[in-house]
Amino acid sequence: MEERPGDDRPQLPQPSLWPVGFAVGIVCLLVGLVVSWWVAAVGAALALVFGFLWARDVTSGRPAAPAQSTDEPTTSVAAAEPETGERFPRSRFLEGATLGLGALIGVVVTLPAAGFALLPGFLKQKGHKVDLGPISDFQENKWQVVTFARDPTHAEISRRTAFVRNNGLLNGVPSFTIISNRCAHVGCPVQPGGPVFQKQEKTIKTANGEVLLTPVLPAAGFICPCHGGSYDQEGNRIAGPPVRGLDRYEFWIRNGHLILGNTFSVASVSGTGANAEIHKYELSGPGQHVDGPESWLYPLQPPH
Ligand code: FES
Repeated sequence: MEERPGDDRPQLPQPSLWPVGFAVGIVCLLVGLVVSWWVAAVGAALALVFGFLWARDVTSGRPAAPAQSTDEPTTSVAAAEPETGERFPRSRFLEGATLGLGALIGVVVTLPAAGFALLPGFLKQKGHKVDLGPISDFQENKWQVVTFARDPTHAEISRRTAFVRNNGLLNGVPSFTIISNRCAHVGCPVQPGGPVFQKQEKTIKTANGEVLLTPVLPAAGFICPCHGGSYDQEGNRIAGPPVRGLDRYEFWIRNGHLILGNTFSVASVSGTGANAEIHKYELSGPGQHVDGPESWLYPLQPPH
């Protein structure tokens, strides 16, 4: 409705579907951040298009729906003609300015917080190779608890623990089983299910700082103290709430030293030791399925 001099009735916006489309786009965007990039992209596109159409309607001065009123229609000829300079009425300008300013403040307040909270999880983390020392320090078919700094520049906060077993030779190449101690339920440190020989603990110095080797006999596999998760010696889940096997480390032998690489997730392991067949997947968070229909719920895996 065009503003008329002396007309103080509220300017009601005409019903429009653009706000609904905008809301649907925002919902898609938020769901997509959890579920999948392409859903987020579709949501962002919808929000942009419908937001633009909505803003254009609000600011273009589209005639508003006539208000239900019992007032007598004006018969004044002067009132029917817009005054000079009223082509863009002040009320519409204020409406548009308020919406625009609100949107700007929303973006300025939300974007940095969302960026700091969400972005790091989606950025590629730097991989670290860790020298665990000469392979002669790892007796064949014996387990050791190995504690090391993943990043020597942040030694104290990057200390990790792995369970390492020398499987002997496979086709003339040394074979190792290297299992992460991060529980596949919610990430508590799992413990060996057997005696740990603290008195035989050995510290060796490598390019990555100090590495601690402690012999252990995990006869009952590995056990999680938090909720009773239980794994066999290959890291297969055998009881409790974990949804998959224990993660493992990549490794190489360089100049007679055992070099540790990144971790990867494991659904399960068939066979044992050097003959194990590992069902390997990209590293996933604790509690996430990596195979079967349940894994469809976790299409997006932030790097770790
Ligand atoms: S964290 Fe290991 S069983 Fe829950």
